[in-house]
Amino acid sequence: MNEFDLVIRGGTVATAADVVQCDVGVHGGRIAALAADLPRGAQEIDARGRIVTPGGVDAHCHMDQPMPPPMKMADDFASATRSAACGGTTTVIPFAAQMKGQSIMAAVDDYHRRAEGRAYVDYAFHLIVTDPTETVLREELPELIRSGYTSFKIYMTYDDLKLNDRQILDVLALARREGAMAMVHAENADCIGWLTDQLEAAGKTAPRYHAASRPRVVEREATHRAISLSELVDVPVLIVHVSGSEAMEQIRWAQSRGLRVYGETCPQYLFLTEENLGADGYEGAKCVCSPPPRDKVNQQAIWHGLASGVFQVFSSDHAPFRYDDEQGKKPGGKAVPFRYIPNGIPGIETRLPLLFSEGVGKGRLELSAFVALTATNPAKIYGLYPRKGTIAVGADADLVIWDPERGVTITNSLLHHDVDYTPYEGMRLKGWPEVTLSRGEIVCAGGEPKGTLGRGQFLKCELPKPATPRPGVRGWVRAISPTSSRSPA
Ligand code: URP
Ligand code: ZN
Ligand code: ZN
Repeated sequence: MNEFDLVIRGGTVATAADVVQCDVGVHGGRIAALAADLPRGAQEIDARGRIVTPGGVDAHCHMDQPMPPPMKMADDFASATRSAACGGTTTVIPFAAQMKGQSIMAAVDDYHRRAEGRAYVDYAFHLIVTDPTETVLREELPELIRSGYTSFKIYMTYDDLKLNDRQILDVLALARREGAMAMVHAENADCIGWLTDQLEAAGKTAPRYHAASRPRVVEREATHRAISLSELVDVPVLIVHVSGSEAMEQIRWAQSRGLRVYGETCPQYLFLTEENLGADGYEGAKCVCSPPPRDKVNQQAIWHGLASGVFQVFSSDHAPFRYDDEQGKKPGGKAVPFRYIPNGIPGIETRLPLLFSEGVGKGRLELSAFVALTATNPAKIYGLYPRKGTIAVGADADLVIWDPERGVTITNSLLHHDVDYTPYEGMRLKGWPEVTLSRGEIVCAGGEPKGTLGRGQFLKCELPKPATPRPGVRGWVRAISPTSSRSPA
């Protein structure tokens, strides 16, 4: 009788704190031992020359989220979590979205029906609050928060989703009372509406004008306002999908004042620019997302924000719409003015390989910082740590074994989502997940999805624990930031 169901032998094991050479012993789906020369397991994986990291936690991704017709997301829980697993992500946190006029409980029930029996990896839910009525604020949200849905996203833009400042204050006050984590999509809706009208009046409706309708100042203003509202209420806030250096500066400024403001950024702001929206014909629609990608100089600023600790979280913001599809980027089957193009791009499978290759591989990020940004910090911030997001005795055996030398050219046929394109087509990467394990079970090996449909379990999130300031470091934010980092390239 073996002590371990599985031993991963001789790998370089990386956590947010350390990088050490050791074996990983797995028993009953959990990590049971970390040591040199563990006894033989029932199953063995030779990880010599490989890097072992915690399975990624993708804390911002969309799948099978109800959309106004004719739009429909291309990925349901099955295809999105299959794709996640093949890219090294073992926990996803998509969004149960309330429609205006709808009970948020009903939205959660509906989303559970969509996920039940369909996931390959474990999942939790964020909520999206679009209609903070008395009932929602006094009854539904407190009950949901206490039942394991401890984070929610609010929008400052999109007509069908946005809240005004007073509503945001109501929701932030509720987050403070209940200890929940508020995530904010920060773009100024009136500025975008006004600019969109001006552009349309001038006949500028091609996809590339999407970027012109949402310039950096629009994001900067809303980011500053979100920070101010959270300061007023004295509650932590996380600004999602930060695209621009100016918004990032607002976050850095808030953190330097000791405010509990967290920042998230995404691959599209490191690897795409607004030129991708200007591709020939209508193809630029493939890269329409909000906020839009910026320019090369801005990409460097975002790299610097990742390395220097302004950002705590690196998510995909996977928002899957097919390009050549009337339910996707061509609503109704035709090229439409940019304001009607569904926002969002796919990236759940490419998130980790892109950051591993271009961040760790090119010396922009320490390996521990990579782990912190992609797994440990999101698990901590959203109340899943230490079960998820680390390699420690007692944690779920969610692990990725990387071949750091494997060269891969990204092409859509390599990926496992149900989208008909990847914005990263043709990019050459070094390093790719060789094996992904979820609770000790192989869910992808050699690029082939494994595991049974529906094996993924729903995770209740704990209330986020307020980070304790540590003396001598930059207050609370250092407690969950990368331990150290090199200068960005
Ligand atoms: O364009 C984006 N990011 N679409 C997804 C929805 C959102 O706002 O995150
Ligand atoms: Zn958003
Ligand atoms: Zn999103």
